[in-house]
Amino acid sequence: MTNPSLLILAGDGIGPEVMAEVRKVIGWFGDRRALRFDVGEDLIGGASYDAHGTPLTDAVIAKAQSADAVLLGAVGGPQYDTLDFSLKPERGLLRIRKDMDLFANLRPAQCFDALADFSSLKRDVISGLDIMIVRELTSGSYFGEPRGIFREGNERVGINTQRYTESEIARVARAAFGLARQRKGKVCSMEKANVMESGVLWREVVSEIHAAEYADVALSHMYADNGAMQLVRAPRQFDVILTDNLFGDLLSDCAAMLTGSLGMLPSASLGAPMENGRPKALYEPVHGSAPDIAGQGRANPSACILSFAMALRYSFGQGAEADRLEAAVGAVLAQGIRTADLLSAPDATPVSTAGMGDAVIAALEAGL
Ligand code: IPM
Ligand code: MG
Repeated sequence: MTNPSLLILAGDGIGPEVMAEVRKVIGWFGDRRALRFDVGEDLIGGASYDAHGTPLTDAVIAKAQSADAVLLGAVGGPQYDTLDFSLKPERGLLRIRKDMDLFANLRPAQCFDALADFSSLKRDVISGLDIMIVRELTSGSYFGEPRGIFREGNERVGINTQRYTESEIARVARAAFGLARQRKGKVCSMEKANVMESGVLWREVVSEIHAAEYADVALSHMYADNGAMQLVRAPRQFDVILTDNLFGDLLSDCAAMLTGSLGMLPSASLGAPMENGRPKALYEPVHGSAPDIAGQGRANPSACILSFAMALRYSFGQGAEADRLEAAVGAVLAQGIRTADLLSAPDATPVSTAGMGDAVIAALEAGL
């Protein structure tokens, strides 16, 4: 039997540094748990632009399409800010999501107890927080046509289109309901049905799928602006939040900050099942490329390591091994080991990116 394949796209900024730590973790699972992967590596974002003049080549897309899972670091940097829109690093990310048809973006917002005091909210509001945002990722205003900047008389007009088909809503709704069944059994769907027709349709289709296929799950609806307010007011009322591409972008940043530690949050972007039954999948940390600290060994590799844990769970059916890795990261935090982003006291000494990776490996060893 051949090993499952992983394509690593480390990208820009701190991407390569945090990915080096993930490689250690992948190596550990091969050596100690006999879970071996064929790991390939290629370029995306600014790194790809520098080498090939485009943020993502067709050859890399083809590799991503045939890999069992893709692990992505981060893209972007100030040196690319003046590039034409179509050449910016972010276009590489949007293209790979679209070309692989990764319509369901899972963004957990979990509060690690050892870090609860980092939140800007009070500990008793966020302690034990465990939310899963399911963001539609391949449609809506990010991709709708018409789009562009046009001339209209003697001025310019910028246009983007919010557009959702019934089937696009239905498939991401099924993903959210399916996840809720494995969690606390609650879905809250967020749109602006009070203002937008696409929101009216969203609410109708979500309700239809619910009634026909997932009546055992508790479904509620909220306008997305109220949802943002509720997220900050009483976040623990939520289990799974289902929302569209643009609202999901905003709401997931808001939810991420509730936990106080952006450097801890992973994500998964899933598509339809492939022939081998695994979903098309890309895993990436929620944080960006952090060019201000790139190359200094200060980045927190935890979000990227936890993204690999999500890969173990959702692509490779290794839920127990994912639990093992998540527990190891939790154990490291409980020991008080911190990268610079998780320290408030000025006299405390942070561990480096590599030090954090090594601590996770040590915790994995200790857990055997
Ligand atoms: C995200 C990011 C991206 C998005 C950017 C980098 C294109 O903000 O993954 O949330 O807007 O989707
Ligand atoms: Mg975002």
